[in-house]
Amino acid sequence: MTTLLPFLIQLMGLRDPHAERHADHVAELALKLGKVLGLKTDELELLHVAASIHDIGKMAINEFVINKPGHFTEAEYIMVQQHAQIGASLVKTLDIDPSIHSIILNHHENFDGTGYPHGEKGDEIPLGARIIRIADTYDALTSNRGYRAAYSHKKSLEIMERDAQFFDPTLLDLFFKNVARKH
Ligand SMILES: [Fe+2]
Ligand SMILES: [Fe+2]
Repeated sequence: MTTLLPFLIQLMGLRDPHAERHADHVAELALKLGKVLGLKTDELELLHVAASIHDIGKMAINEFVINKPGHFTEAEYIMVQQHAQIGASLVKTLDIDPSIHSIILNHHENFDGTGYPHGEKGDEIPLGARIIRIADTYDALTSNRGYRAAYSHKKSLEIMERDAQFFDPTLLDLFFKNVARKH
């Protein structure tokens, strides 16, 4: 599976110019957090694959919506949210560990149950998805978006602290202390 990863990441990059850097950076941050947590080599390997292709479902979403240089309308946001389920279905066609499907499916679930697609909460959300939720948010905040410039490291951590209910508190604490780096 890992031999397919560079190919899949390149494909994602054809649709969205930021996708390759985002995939690599989320995978790097997720692995760092996984190592701090003491995950085993095979668990880290699964986490690396899942983090690298967590947004693969965006390939099925309208290109103009994905790359829109402004805020989404409500209808567009509903469309974008479908990427979690689409991504999970797509990877089901690959001969990979089923935990990767559920990590991709759940990577936008919030710890307090306010996320999507199913409003899972707490430990109902797979550990890998809780890790990626944090890495994904940090990378999104510290990156330029069509509608805003990148936030600084400090401001990004402030926003994540303000929204702490979305994240596993133990993981967030470990991320703040051991993973997040100054930009
Ligand atoms: Fe996503
Ligand atoms: Fe993402």
